[in-house]
Amino acid sequence: MRILFVGDIFARPGRTIVHERLPELQKQYEVELTIANGENAAGGFGITPQIAEELFELGIDVITTGNHVWDKREIIEYMNSADGNEASLARRLLRPANYPASTPGYGWYQGRTRSGVDYAVINVQGRVFMTSNDDPFRVTDELLKQIRAKVIVVDLHAEATSEKVALGWHLDGRVTAVLGTHTHVPTADERVLPGGTAVQTDVGMTGPYDSVIGVQKELILQKFLTNMPSRFEPAAEDVRLCGALVECDPATGRASKIERIMLREQ
Ligand SMILES: [Fe+2]
Repeated sequence: MRILFVGDIFARPGRTIVHERLPELQKQYEVELTIANGENAAGGFGITPQIAEELFELGIDVITTGNHVWDKREIIEYMNSADGNEASLARRLLRPANYPASTPGYGWYQGRTRSGVDYAVINVQGRVFMTSNDDPFRVTDELLKQIRAKVIVVDLHAEATSEKVALGWHLDGRVTAVLGTHTHVPTADERVLPGGTAVQTDVGMTGPYDSVIGVQKELILQKFLTNMPSRFEPAAEDVRLCGALVECDPATGRASKIERIMLREQ
């Protein structure tokens, strides 16, 4: 079976290209499971309930997030609304699993694809050059003890390549894929490790590349040049959809292939 992971959907340009290109991608590759990181989907900062539901409607099965998850505060209520209801769409919107225990929402989801394959998605956040949270390695180990699905995808939302490569090796043979998000720059290191875990350090941003990681480049340049506070506005041009396509055996969860995806606007 094939799994498509769409990298950080950034603001309206990111959502628009997902709208335009996702259906054909899913059809072309006969994608069975679609996951996307949506933490920057609302104007580059956070995600709203309405945007989450729009993304679900486009055929994204599970949405992961990261450090920007709480930027739009209404998402807290949305996540809480799913409490105890596995069938609720809101339950498919994840926050990193290694956040403090009392945090709203969940960091993992278990579901079944249309053709009946059990799968799980785990969302964790890195600790290197990021705010401190629980250990993503041990938190993932603990979650894996209770997950029965063989097909398991981990989104490690993290800054440091070393941490992401390390989690790949740590989980090799135990999960289908470890895919990195957060840096918004796709890396050319996609590979399947010997135990059958597909890894890519960062799948890259789905959004405007005529920018500094999604934001208008003039604003970020001004920030670097003057160190003065500045507002961050999403850029608009050179929009690309970045992601990773993972092929795996649904019976064992072992990955056999990973391919980088980068599509431009038509
Ligand atoms: Fe992030």
